[in-house]
Amino acid sequence: MFITFEGPEGSGKSTQIKMLLERLKQEKIPYTKTFEPGGTPLGQEIRKLLLHRPEPMAERAELFLYAADRAEHVKTVIKPALERGEVVICDRYYHSTMAYQGYGRGISLELIRNIMDIAISDAEPERVFLIDVPVEEGFKRIKTSGRDKDRIESEALSFHQRLREGYLEMAQKEEERFLVLDGTRSPEEIHEKIWDEVKRCL
Ligand SMILES: Nc1ncnc2c1ncn2[C@@H]1O[C@H](COP(=O)(O)OP(=O)(O)OP(=O)(O)O)[C@@H](O)[C@H]1O
Ligand SMILES: [Mg+2]
Repeated sequence: MFITFEGPEGSGKSTQIKMLLERLKQEKIPYTKTFEPGGTPLGQEIRKLLLHRPEPMAERAELFLYAADRAEHVKTVIKPALERGEVVICDRYYHSTMAYQGYGRGISLELIRNIMDIAISDAEPERVFLIDVPVEEGFKRIKTSGRDKDRIESEALSFHQRLREGYLEMAQKEEERFLVLDGTRSPEEIHEKIWDEVKRCL
């Protein structure tokens, strides 16, 4: 089973993944937890370019860097884990690229989808947990945590608002794949919804 977590910055993805992993551990269900960008040694190099290189970058160069990271990740981490029969949990996947590069930067969704198909071959997530929060709320949380903003997080508020709307639109179009969670609820409440759904699917 392949599960991805999506949502705007600071929506609570890492928090929910941690809670889910604890639950899987208790239930003795084997899993692999991974993330993008940067879930492989090559991906770590690409992540540095994507998030911390200060110079501007062509939108399509950025898109291909995400695709390269993903292709390596699918081949060396995600597919082997699925073949071992593990539950694979990935913090961000190609819906992030659709949201950020598509809805955020304005690259055509069809073009992105075609490139993503090449990068993932057939590694489609069965369930996408979309944690939705108002953009300001996510940023307030990041600010409170005291962490510095990276290159993408430093984009204008309107960019983040577009991608939030984009996520919700994708969830509407792919209702059977997405579960939208209200990220303003307590972590425990959100976790119970996620766990119910995972149990149902296992
Ligand atoms: N449901 C919640 N209600 C209130 N605060 C929360 C909730 N979930 C997480 N937080 C807090 O919000 C902050 C961001 O959470 P977290 O790191 O899990 O988000 P994220 O989606 O992984 O963020 P990023 O996009 O930066 O990876 C943390 O300080 C976390 O403790
Ligand atoms: Mg996180």
